[in-house]
Amino acid sequence: MKTLLLTADQTDKAAEIIKRGGLVAMPTETVYGLAADAFNGQAVADIFRAKGRPMDNPLIVHISSLSQMDRIVREFPEKAKALADRFWPGPLTIILPRSDSIPPEVSAGLDTVAVRYPSHPVAQQLISASCPLAAPSANLSGSPSPTTAAHVMSDMDGRIDAVIDGGDCEVGVESTVITLACPIPRILRPGGITAEQIREVIGDIEIDPAVIKPLAEGQKAASPGMKYKHYSPKADVILLDGDDEAFEKYINEVMDDKTAALCYNGQQERLSCICIAIGEKDDYNAYAHNLFASLRKADEMGCTKVYAHCPRKDGVGLAVYNRVIRAAGFKIISLQ
Ligand code: TXA
Ligand code: MG
Repeated sequence: MKTLLLTADQTDKAAEIIKRGGLVAMPTETVYGLAADAFNGQAVADIFRAKGRPMDNPLIVHISSLSQMDRIVREFPEKAKALADRFWPGPLTIILPRSDSIPPEVSAGLDTVAVRYPSHPVAQQLISASCPLAAPSANLSGSPSPTTAAHVMSDMDGRIDAVIDGGDCEVGVESTVITLACPIPRILRPGGITAEQIREVIGDIEIDPAVIKPLAEGQKAASPGMKYKHYSPKADVILLDGDDEAFEKYINEVMDDKTAALCYNGQQERLSCICIAIGEKDDYNAYAHNLFASLRKADEMGCTKVYAHCPRKDGVGLAVYNRVIRAAGFKIISLQ
């Protein structure tokens, strides 16, 4: 299959492809998504094949108007409405009881469905010109999510119908996923909308333990995606827990010519390995924006090891922590 590279003003052409059951990668404000008609089970099954994604890992349905909710969910409770009112369009995904019109391929057989209203204008135009779209991140299963059209092409060229080039994704990590299909709302995946911001709107919420810890043997994942190794470049990612000085000293001692470090701007001067700067010190929005692109860059440069500083676990830091700890297969070296 030849994969078309479309420009941001070609959403009508992309909508045609979607309407005949094809697959289109689209930019969103978080990461690129691999989209198909959410009501076409066959097209949705093709997404899983193109990504090599296990069929038990459900997809998010993307909308461009609240009026589309009726066809997607059975209930739209007050707390969900309050979150939608405050954070949509934007990087928040809400899990709710599923309507019968959603094909089982989308929800992987669960009784719930994940819904998101993206703020990216190209995503909105594509949905408005076609229909609600089921879309996971547009990477091969297990790889870092794509934040540019070039990343999508590098994973998906020849496997999907088209990619719309909408430039760099602003947030850089996937949406916050919260389930309201349980007594106390629970964050299943942290993202650009923080737990602190959500508490301000709906009060008490829980954070699923699997956000920061590996699942225990035999434990069932609240979000099926959390049980898979994820976000991994080919290089080994290793997290170091310690202050800046200990971080720099450790890397300078163990490094070779294939070692890279993710560092903050200015820290390069004190590191003798390959340095990939990801933002000003403690600017977690910048770290989130640059994380996946940096992991891909380390592979392109032929690095075999990538060291990263253990992120903090609040605000957007929790989203960065959740992604790097999975990229690292939960390996942390303590330097205290
Ligand atoms: O920002 C994003 O959310 C991006 C863009 C493209 O919108 N999409 C994305 O999709 O990250 P994906 O498929 O890579 O991640 C969706 C996550 C998975 O961990 C999946 O298991 C979980 O959401 N999920 C989806 N539906 C669910 C459901 N009904 N119950 C529990 N978890 C669900
Ligand atoms: Mg993904």
